[in-house]
Amino acid sequence: MHETYLTVFGITALLAITSLCMPLARRLNFPFTVLLAAVGIFLGAIVTLFGDVEGMGIAGDFVRALGDFSITSEVVFFIFLPTLIFESALSIDVRRLLDDIAPILLLAIFGLMISSFAIGGVVFSLSNQSFVVCLLLGAILSATDPVAVVAIFKDLGAPKRLAILVEGESLFNDATAIVLFTILSAIVVSGAEASLLSGFGSFLKVFLGGIIVGYVFARIVCWIISRMRDVPLVEITLTLCLAYFAFVVAEHYLHVSGVMAVVTAALVVGSVGRTSIKPATWHGLSEVWEQIAFWANSLIFVLAGLLVPAAMTTFGATEFILLAVIVVVAFAARSLIIFGVLPLLSRFGLGQQVSTAYKTVMMWGGLRGAVSLALALAIYENANVSDDVQSFILVLVTGFVLFTLFVNAPTMGFLISGFGLDKLSPADLAVRNRVMQRSLRGVKERIGELANDLRVSPEFAREVAHSYDVRLREVERDLARAENFPLDDRMRMAMTTLLTRERQRYLKLYTQGFASSAIARRLFARADDLLDAVKSNGLEGYVEALDKQLGYTRSFHFSMTLQRKFSYAGMLGTQLSNRFVIFLITQMVLRELVEYNRERIGQLLGKDVEARLGGMLEKRLARTEDQLDGLKLQYPEYADTLQRRLLERTSLRLEDGDYSSLLEQSIINADVFKAVQKGLHTRCSALEVRPTLDLGLEPEKLVAKVPFFDGLGAEKISAIAALLKPFLELPGERIMVKGEAGDAMYFISTGAVNVDVQPEPVRLGSGDFFGEIALLTDQPRNATVTALCYCQVLALYTKDFRKLLDTHADLRERITRVAQERLGGEVPPSA
Ligand code: CMP
Repeated sequence: MHETYLTVFGITALLAITSLCMPLARRLNFPFTVLLAAVGIFLGAIVTLFGDVEGMGIAGDFVRALGDFSITSEVVFFIFLPTLIFESALSIDVRRLLDDIAPILLLAIFGLMISSFAIGGVVFSLSNQSFVVCLLLGAILSATDPVAVVAIFKDLGAPKRLAILVEGESLFNDATAIVLFTILSAIVVSGAEASLLSGFGSFLKVFLGGIIVGYVFARIVCWIISRMRDVPLVEITLTLCLAYFAFVVAEHYLHVSGVMAVVTAALVVGSVGRTSIKPATWHGLSEVWEQIAFWANSLIFVLAGLLVPAAMTTFGATEFILLAVIVVVAFAARSLIIFGVLPLLSRFGLGQQVSTAYKTVMMWGGLRGAVSLALALAIYENANVSDDVQSFILVLVTGFVLFTLFVNAPTMGFLISGFGLDKLSPADLAVRNRVMQRSLRGVKERIGELANDLRVSPEFAREVAHSYDVRLREVERDLARAENFPLDDRMRMAMTTLLTRERQRYLKLYTQGFASSAIARRLFARADDLLDAVKSNGLEGYVEALDKQLGYTRSFHFSMTLQRKFSYAGMLGTQLSNRFVIFLITQMVLRELVEYNRERIGQLLGKDVEARLGGMLEKRLARTEDQLDGLKLQYPEYADTLQRRLLERTSLRLEDGDYSSLLEQSIINADVFKAVQKGLHTRCSALEVRPTLDLGLEPEKLVAKVPFFDGLGAEKISAIAALLKPFLELPGERIMVKGEAGDAMYFISTGAVNVDVQPEPVRLGSGDFFGEIALLTDQPRNATVTALCYCQVLALYTKDFRKLLDTHADLRERITRVAQERLGGEVPPSA
């Protein structure tokens, strides 16, 4: 018990020291993590030298506390790893990760194997260790460390895609390395043989098992969070528990990959959970995670550093030569994969191209850290492994980790700036110059007035104005040089700006409660799709992606099938209602963007860009409005309900804003504010549940709208209704195609269709029928029929058609007469 104070003292003192390293690293412009490791090594040396010296007071206690920390592999795995991995993966943009998933998995799985075998093979030929031990060393050494990599990339402000490639690789390859490690260390300990096939089988099981555990746990937590209303403390705590539960259950109970479980859980929370959690809570959540990860990160580097002096006592000339060889082989293997295999992926269309600059940085940026050290420690602590193997692995792994930390990490900055990856693109530069031009001009004009207000002498004012003048001229010179910046590039730039703005607006509307989380997710995805399309294919890509968005999704078609085949209309109702809301919000945002384009884009990127973009926006707006009009025509009452809700929500927002500003100006106090907010919340919640859309697809109601069946009497009508199947047809959908065999005729209950006949196409509307000729004549369809808008139709299949005609001579006569007219007087043979 008396040692507890020492542990607390040791940890807090370490945290204090590490925290102070952060500002120091900034001032020295040196990677923070590397500085931490250096401090750790320094402290480790002190512990080795003075650990046993008595009578040094509080300083002696600190050294003793450090010496008592026994950082085992279990501590690294179960305490540090879940936090560190969860936090790194949480901020990864899943969509971008999926865009590059092929190269990432190639590097993480295939690359790791190649690197392990290369290092293992070379070390085996140079040392007297067995091949399995050398391979084990290779696997440990090949795990690039997400923590070190992410930290360095964040520090250097690397481009987003480059960071995702390297971060993604590091996260996934840890899992691969740990699995390989588990298989190989079991062989080292037991001396058993393992076949390649069983190794591969268990690798798959462990890898996929981890993904499943992480996914299931995260979905459960996200679901629980979405049921809760605004209890940030609980929501954040649950994500913390998720990281540890997923890891422990996967690793300890189910013996699958804990790392994969945590990575997957974090990715799910980062994508699905993000829209279930209120934006303000999300902000808090990210901050809490950042804080915890900062502690874990600081401690792990120092604690790892502490081990180094003791581990390196056996470091001699042989180890030095081996280490030098390992460095060469490890980077050669990495280069082989990155420069040799990666390009093949894009050649086969499996991934986007990666530039040489990116590849070089990726090769050099494969830092090793906590995971490698923890795995080496696990071997070091294992009593069943011989002493010789233990120190062989620990020394070489520590040496290699130090090499990447002290050689690669500090030089990454030079590499990135050497390739100009930290520079603004010419397009960004042009925007920067224009923005600066505007601001500098504005400020320059106001300096005189400002000097007057502040009672500063006009002479000073002239001096300051002059300095602005000089800067302004410089910017204008640059601008003049860039004036002939091609229109296409400026267009692409403007579209990216506008789509980013569109996404931000959706986020804002979600925050304000206009869109539910599910709708917000779709709106984000739509903006992201357009953004990606512009990035990869410019204007063409945009048009193509837009066409796709105005069409119907796969799940929409699935819901149509459910309605047609199983008469289940619930899903179709939701899909249509979603479509309504999505287009309503898109329309709102597009109108704002038209304004935004007029006010901003022209100034920044030129009038020609503004005009072209304006045209495109108007066209997109018109197409969106077309879609909305179609829906409104078919479901006018529902459209009214939605629009009323929109208005009510906007009013509530205004009211809310008003109270908040009164509170800010101290006109009302917090108690009054709370009281008025309460009423507001109840009214807001009442608006949260969207009314369901009744498709009105009940045969009896629809039959009543078809005059053809008028005067038949209620009993007959309900008998006929039992034979009819109600369908919804979508605008532009081809209901039947000329030349096909016919299996049904249709009565139009509401809507209109186009019959493509010569010389003029014919339009049929509510109450008309079509598709009867094929059934009467047993001939293929004689025309193509397309829905002009949303149509509710009643289908009568051949068997029922015959039944109906046999029992109702009057109906038979009326249908035959219409068919004769349509065929130009020819009498169809009777059915
Ligand atoms: P069917 O031949 O089964 O499939 C195409 C349908 O288009 C046809 O039945 C008629 O119902 C309809 N159709 C064909 N010609 C005309 C026409 N001139 N006017 C209206 N409808 C027609």
